[in-house]
Amino acid sequence: MKITEQIKQPILSEMELFETKFYDSMTSKVALLNRITYFIVNRKGKQMRPMFVFLTAKMISGGTVNERTYRGASVIELIHTATLVHDDVVDDSNRRRGFFSINALWKNKIAVLVGDYLLSKGLLLSIDNGDFDLLKIISVAVREMSEGELLQIEKARRLDITEDVYYDIIRQKTATLIAACCALGAKSVSEDAEQVEKMRKFGELIGMAFQIKDDLFDYTDEAIGKPTGIDIKEQKMTLPLIHVLNHCTSQEKKWLINSVKNHNKDRKRVKEVIAFVKSNNGLLYAEEKMVEFQEEALHLLDTFPPSEYKDALTLMVNYVIERKK
Ligand code: IPE
Ligand code: IPE
Ligand code: MG
Ligand code: MG
Repeated sequence: MKITEQIKQPILSEMELFETKFYDSMTSKVALLNRITYFIVNRKGKQMRPMFVFLTAKMISGGTVNERTYRGASVIELIHTATLVHDDVVDDSNRRRGFFSINALWKNKIAVLVGDYLLSKGLLLSIDNGDFDLLKIISVAVREMSEGELLQIEKARRLDITEDVYYDIIRQKTATLIAACCALGAKSVSEDAEQVEKMRKFGELIGMAFQIKDDLFDYTDEAIGKPTGIDIKEQKMTLPLIHVLNHCTSQEKKWLINSVKNHNKDRKRVKEVIAFVKSNNGLLYAEEKMVEFQEEALHLLDTFPPSEYKDALTLMVNYVIERKK
């Protein structure tokens, strides 16, 4: 059995029901919007966030979920989808999930509005059902994601990012939402604040590893369903490059910064930078850091009693760093 199937085994019926609920949560009276949301649900991603929600809820409750858990999973996936639609505008990226991105097909204007629509639909799903405790968790994540993307742009402009700032950025733009998945999954079935906080932290740690993995993908030529090699083009300095910048001669540093600043659209030059990062162990270092976050997450998970849900979450943690897309 594939690892993803193994992970889904204890939440099969939940994920199946989730699909219909998720689709229903997007529908609109505007035909153009419906065409686009239909396109979106037919090109679904890995759905790791709803998986985190259901697995956490079942681990904490000992096997039961409720309508709040389903709504929480839908809200998170709606918000995740909204941020991807916006992120592809921000990053000027034309591919997503193995096909054209929304901005590539319908242009930026429509992509911005569709992202806003999905975000508002998500928030309303919580409000209309009085899930205010879950809404609080989600709204904090939404705010932090915007802050993270903006901090990233600020750093891309000034090219002065440090390793610590990099961790701040990825904590905000990515780990926060995965932390919200786990906190919300727990909160949907339990009032135990300590458990909720523990799961939030677990999600944050694995979210950090998740984004480091995503940033490593950008240095490969593998078919991951979205462009690779575009981070430098967008002057996004991620961990492999940051590490190399901190460990090379001042002349090499000058060349690297100059490449990212003034030659970032020159494909040959970008390839040279990528090769330099690789030969100076930038990828190895990032992998090491990713594994540190993974191990810390596993450590936290260890404090929960054994269950099939805990086993699936353990597989999930490993999948985050071993995945091929
Ligand atoms: C992509 O997330 C955005 C990041 C935070 C790196 P996923 O890799 O979970 O995207 P999908 O939903 O599976 O396409
Ligand atoms: C994740 O960063 C962005 C979001 C949190 C939406 P990236 O810009 O690296 O994500 P991808 O690579 O486009 O999926
Ligand atoms: Mg992007
Ligand atoms: Mg990326």
